[in-house]
Amino acid sequence: MIKIDNINLAQCLDSGTQSEIHLMKDAVVVWDGNLIEWVGSKSELPKKYKNIQTVDGQKALLLPGLIDCHTHLAFGGWRSDEFGERVAGVPYAEITARGGGISSTVKATRAATEDDLYSRSYDFLEKMRALGVTTVECKSGYGLSLDDEMKLLRVYRRLGESQPLRIVPTFLGAHLVPQGTTREEYCKLVVDKMIPEVAKNALAEFCDVFVDDHAFSVEEATLIVAKAKECGLQIKLHVDQLSNGKGAEFAAECGATSADHLEYISEDGIQAMKRSGTVAVSLPLATLYTFQKPLDARALIDAGVDVAIATDFNPGSAPSYHLPLAMMLGCTLNRMSPAEVLKAVTIKAAKALGKIDTIGSIEVGKKADFVLIDTPSIDHWMYHFTENANRLTVINGNTVFKA
Ligand code: NIG
Ligand code: FE
Repeated sequence: MIKIDNINLAQCLDSGTQSEIHLMKDAVVVWDGNLIEWVGSKSELPKKYKNIQTVDGQKALLLPGLIDCHTHLAFGGWRSDEFGERVAGVPYAEITARGGGISSTVKATRAATEDDLYSRSYDFLEKMRALGVTTVECKSGYGLSLDDEMKLLRVYRRLGESQPLRIVPTFLGAHLVPQGTTREEYCKLVVDKMIPEVAKNALAEFCDVFVDDHAFSVEEATLIVAKAKECGLQIKLHVDQLSNGKGAEFAAECGATSADHLEYISEDGIQAMKRSGTVAVSLPLATLYTFQKPLDARALIDAGVDVAIATDFNPGSAPSYHLPLAMMLGCTLNRMSPAEVLKAVTIKAAKALGKIDTIGSIEVGKKADFVLIDTPSIDHWMYHFTENANRLTVINGNTVFKA
């Protein structure tokens, strides 16, 4: 049993509004093995915890481990060659249409070995845990053939078994129709072969579909989602990113756990998500890199929709794994308060992964996943952006990073 004292704590419970972070001054957290055993103010610490091993928090801010609930972690190559063009004004969709964009990453990913993809992703995860990230959702979607999609999901399985961050794998076979196949053939492959294979081998918890004019229609996504649900997968969706395609309404209708991007969500879409309890995931790095208008997170929060924030780390629309950077952008682009952003990367991100019972807040019985941020306040942390204010990352009760 170990405790950490001399800390200011933000518990980040699911209860209350998105801006209620449940602050506690001069707090103590006790953990036993991988689980939190006691949380409270120092003045109420039970006798039996007084003499156990103690870590001095040095008055820093103790928070639940950060959760990056949307990434495309494993991919081959980069796309810096397209960056200059995109900055000069060539639209993301135009580059995709001529075989660049996602297709060029598919080529590089198919050419990469499973070991290459594994070691590259391992390095990214090592940097993410230094930033305070403790759980990462990881999508396939750059293989787009049965073998290559399984290769990516096997990389995530190995990562989950061989390094400390919690990995939540998502099958995104429906990311783009690959060159050399018809839409019908490819959708059939996803539904008849890929999803059953993913389910049979328990290689993913979620199925995602990129619903967009340049990717999959709502009709196609309906068939894919139906099969995924039948096979026991939960649903996440990329929707309303580059235009409004009634994606939020579709996500609500099919009971998706989260709907992500949403820059072009409509008022009807907001109301539908409120009714279904689908979490909205803002990806401000992707908004910025694709020069889209920012998601109106205020409208969602004010309507009572939970909003999470993630990096969307991928080689095209969001080539950065820096979750604290995405958090600062959640304030400056999405107009969320620092407190709302804190919940967006802890308890709301846990909700976007269907995991509020085990992670996302500092509560008795939850996993001992936490970070220690060297800052006088939540506001100051997000306002004064630095390369890394994290001092300590603990996952499952084990120290996995120390500054
Ligand atoms: O989340 N929107 C679709 N997929 C990714 C981009 C993938 C890429 O550009 O390689 C996204 O933005
Ligand atoms: Fe994405």
